[in-house]
Amino acid sequence: MLYITGDTHGDYNDFIDRTKKLELTPDDTVIICGDFGFIFIDDYFLTKLVKLPWNIAFVDGNHENFDKLERYPVENWNGGKVHRIAKNIVHLMRGNVFSIEGKTFFCMGGAYSIDKAIRREGVSWWSRESPSNEEYRTASASLEKCGMTVDYILTHNIPEKGFYELGYCPDMHDRELVGFLQWVMETVSFKEWYAGHFHIDQTVCGKVRILYGDVVPLG
Ligand SMILES: [Fe+2]
Repeated sequence: MLYITGDTHGDYNDFIDRTKKLELTPDDTVIICGDFGFIFIDDYFLTKLVKLPWNIAFVDGNHENFDKLERYPVENWNGGKVHRIAKNIVHLMRGNVFSIEGKTFFCMGGAYSIDKAIRREGVSWWSRESPSNEEYRTASASLEKCGMTVDYILTHNIPEKGFYELGYCPDMHDRELVGFLQWVMETVSFKEWYAGHFHIDQTVCGKVRILYGDVVPLG
């Protein structure tokens, strides 16, 4: 069984609180919509996640240590590319489509940090938080390959229209990504879209469900 939740930011106790009522087994996977945050400065809480008897997959957010994340080996997993973090943990790389338990997922992590000014590069902020041209090309090619149709879309950020609905204007540095996600929303056929980033549980654009503490079972 698959479950989706929002940002975890390396907070082990909060993550366990969210998931303990689910009685998860080795057949279950919890997918996090970015700002995983367990690969950051020290790995103490990551070593605790590795011991859990169930699986974790995550798209990246803006608050990840990309220097460390990109050192993990890349492997093919369920039709797309992942960073293999541990036996039970994978990072769903940007622009890939995965087939998991008979359902297809288009994944596109990343976002711009509006608090970048108070962060230090290489310590608490990484420029890789926003997708590269190559990742956009990978995303377009993956979507074309599956006929612009998937079951689910998993992102950290949301389409541009969702920002306005929430009363925000996307930062100019974020416009490429939110514009791309707007195009995805208007072009790709999908059943459900899950995102994170805003630390709220709310649906925008009628079909983009932003998650934080909520854990949603799929299927
Ligand atoms: Fe976050």
